[in-house]
Amino acid sequence: MNAHNTPHSSDAATAEEAIARQEALPPLTNEDATNIAMQNTLLTPRFYTTDFEEMDAIDVTPVREEWDALIAQMKSDPNKGHFKKNDEWDADWENMDPALKAEFIDFLISSCTAEFSGCVLYKEMKRRGSNTDITTLFQLMARDEARHAGFINDALREAGVSVNLGFLTQQKKYTYFRPKFIYYATYLSEKIGYARYITIFRHLEEHPDKRFHPIFKWFREWCNDEFSHGEAFALLMRTDPKLTTSFSNKLWIKFFLTAVYSTMWIRDHQRPVFHEALGVDVTWYGQEVFRKTSEITKQVFPITLDIDHPRWRKGLNRLEAASRQVAAAKKRGGVMGMASRLAGMATVAATFVSLYTIPAIKHTVPVSSRMEPAY
Ligand SMILES: [Fe+2]
Ligand SMILES: [Fe+2]
Repeated sequence: MNAHNTPHSSDAATAEEAIARQEALPPLTNEDATNIAMQNTLLTPRFYTTDFEEMDAIDVTPVREEWDALIAQMKSDPNKGHFKKNDEWDADWENMDPALKAEFIDFLISSCTAEFSGCVLYKEMKRRGSNTDITTLFQLMARDEARHAGFINDALREAGVSVNLGFLTQQKKYTYFRPKFIYYATYLSEKIGYARYITIFRHLEEHPDKRFHPIFKWFREWCNDEFSHGEAFALLMRTDPKLTTSFSNKLWIKFFLTAVYSTMWIRDHQRPVFHEALGVDVTWYGQEVFRKTSEITKQVFPITLDIDHPRWRKGLNRLEAASRQVAAAKKRGGVMGMASRLAGMATVAATFVSLYTIPAIKHTVPVSSRMEPAY
């Protein structure tokens, strides 16, 4: 069959179509990737479910003008057909250093799971809802995430690995989050996703010799999708000012900022070879991504974390060391392993509290949240 005529997830108009097209590809026997994607730990991407009825009841009237502009832009679908291999695809798995290959595959599987986690949640909201504003948005976002996940799976297939998306949908455990937590967590993950991808993209523009795999060439359009998704959640939060102004919700926002930032820090430090190959200092990269994300989230959050506070970096490093201790103790097993694991977990908890209690920086939130991807 001519590759250009084969329907591909990148041109799919809906998430369902994109997933079906990925599922129709020849199956691979490798089950490891799906097993990794099935893992549910504090550090691995999860699948979420929520109170869809409550979300369906959102009235976007207070942000109507910005809402319609955003939906029109997403409907115009500038990235249709983009997430597909082309002549610029020059992947060379054979000559990749095995240690790098292992970390890179881990990175791709975790990214694919995260993309697909968004897809599953958005698709479900679209399916359950009856509010046209809401279902239209979630259908468009699910479409994008299915394309992203499909594209990563295309990349993985060449390494003899693929994530079984249909199996994941049915078998992975779903975590319940009430809608407001979905807004905070998903908004942040979309915006930090943008900041991560654009930081790598810009770095590789300056150092093209470090681009060890072609997928990074697709990161600019990719992160623009994530940016739009984040814009949508900013608007959803602005329909109800309490979500970002009440005392207790500000504490929740701070909690999610701290949790998302520190999880990213630990995860990235687990992939030293990957970052070295990219020529990226992982500590610089973490702080740079936090800086961009903080700048963006000022559009809707009244606080940002003080990432230049003396306790910040110290705390992150301690968290990272403790998480390594927990992982090693888990492997060791036995009474000593258990003792070391509990001690590590206590350090993680205490350090998280220390990070959480660093005074936040306060901001005045602008009247309009509208922002363009500027990095
Ligand atoms: Fe995505
Ligand atoms: Fe997204």
